[in-house]
Amino acid sequence: MADTGEGMGDESDDTTGADGTRLARLYVNGIDRPIELPILTPSLGQEVIDIGSLTNQGIFTYDPGFVSTAACDSNITYIDGDAGTLLHRGYPIEQLAEQSDFLELCYLLLHGVLPSADEKAVFEATVTRERGVTEGIQAMVGQFSRGAHPMGIMTALTGALAAENHEGLDITEEAHRLKTAERLIAKMPTLAALTYRHGQGKPYLPPRDDLNYAENFLYTTFAGDENYEINPVIAHAMDRIFMLHADHEQNASTSTVRLAGSTGTNPYSAIAAGIAALWGPSHGGANEAVLNMLAEIGSVDNIDAFVEKAKDKDDPFRIMGFGHRVYKNYDPRAKVMQQTCHEVLAELGVDRDPMLQMAQRLEKIALEDEYFIERRLYPNVDFYSGITLKAVGIPTEMFTVIFTTGRTPGWIAHWREMVSEPYKIGRPRQLYRGRTARDYVPLDQR
Ligand code: CMC
Repeated sequence: MADTGEGMGDESDDTTGADGTRLARLYVNGIDRPIELPILTPSLGQEVIDIGSLTNQGIFTYDPGFVSTAACDSNITYIDGDAGTLLHRGYPIEQLAEQSDFLELCYLLLHGVLPSADEKAVFEATVTRERGVTEGIQAMVGQFSRGAHPMGIMTALTGALAAENHEGLDITEEAHRLKTAERLIAKMPTLAALTYRHGQGKPYLPPRDDLNYAENFLYTTFAGDENYEINPVIAHAMDRIFMLHADHEQNASTSTVRLAGSTGTNPYSAIAAGIAALWGPSHGGANEAVLNMLAEIGSVDNIDAFVEKAKDKDDPFRIMGFGHRVYKNYDPRAKVMQQTCHEVLAELGVDRDPMLQMAQRLEKIALEDEYFIERRLYPNVDFYSGITLKAVGIPTEMFTVIFTTGRTPGWIAHWREMVSEPYKIGRPRQLYRGRTARDYVPLDQR
């Protein structure tokens, strides 16, 4: 029913409003005047038509999956899916991965600038101080069965943080918002380690102040005692994995955090909602799904058959770790992760691992196949992070927990960006296709 004005002569052109804003005109059958909509100009990327006023005309838009919709404006992260570009506050991910570290990236995401040496030291000290969790949280994890899925436990423990950090938390106060962000970044690896150790039947190991973020994660996760030796190559790889997952603009879990946060809810519970959204195999669960898929394929000899299955329209099977909603070129994080993956496998002497060889073969076959080329389906970051994490000794069901730890600064930076400015509750509309009004029929007459 919408008409963009084609065939209507000059009226179909964009025009300019009184304040100089470019306008788009929408022609709708049944509405006598064209609807003028402002065109917003981003600092990078595609122009955006502001459709906010459409509802006043008795009409709104339909965009399942938000494929053509910007749900907010943001200054944090920019992705150019065609060029394969990912910028955090303007800095390319490749430069950050090469020269920076996870906590510095957290600071950048939260504050918009790289820290000075003093600011960096203060931020690191704050996060280090906040790493511990209460006895209540430690006891809570013990209530889950040994086989409980770690992502379910993480969602629950983060919900428990909301309960512990509710009284006195005022999200209109910037100091409270920042403290919340620092606490979540600090505590998430501790919750991750606690969850892992519970599955292994091991008790909680308190964080160590002399270790950096990634080292402390490895120590609290794997150590039997104080003598645990940290391999610097593995610690560096973990830091990179956290960095490569730190933020990815308005992905499903970040949008979930924003939507939950837009109600004014406790920010810890908004993050718990984000963790729940991340769990799915189309999102953060993909790294776990990659390993499960490789196990299902079983051997290099079966790869061709599985690639054919992935191409079959009547078969729901997809190559996990391939494709991305936004990247229609190579995922820049995958390039960095591929390099880290090889470093880790060489360090651990498992580069002849049959699983990796299968992954490499699958990657090659899929990249040469017309079906994948036409649809611009490339390996994404999860393809390589899954293989790296397996080599490090992290069980498959913990992979998305690692992603959770890495993504926490992104989630909380977006929440803070939203609640620091005037914002509206997120409340999408719908295209109703159900029954029209009808009268209730009493039970004895049905
Ligand atoms: N294997 C085989 N075919 C695929 C795949 C795949 N992995 N991904 C997409 N396609 C096909 C799909 O069948 C469709 O074909 P056609 O045009 O003939 O109908 C076409 O490619 C477009 O797919 P789509 O589902 O419309 O694309 P989307 O943008 O909605 O989905 C995706 C993106 C990531 C959900 C999807 O590519 C996928 O399911 N990939 C596997 C799961 C995965 O690796 N997810 C991690 C995403 S990256 C991490 C994150 O950001 O969380």
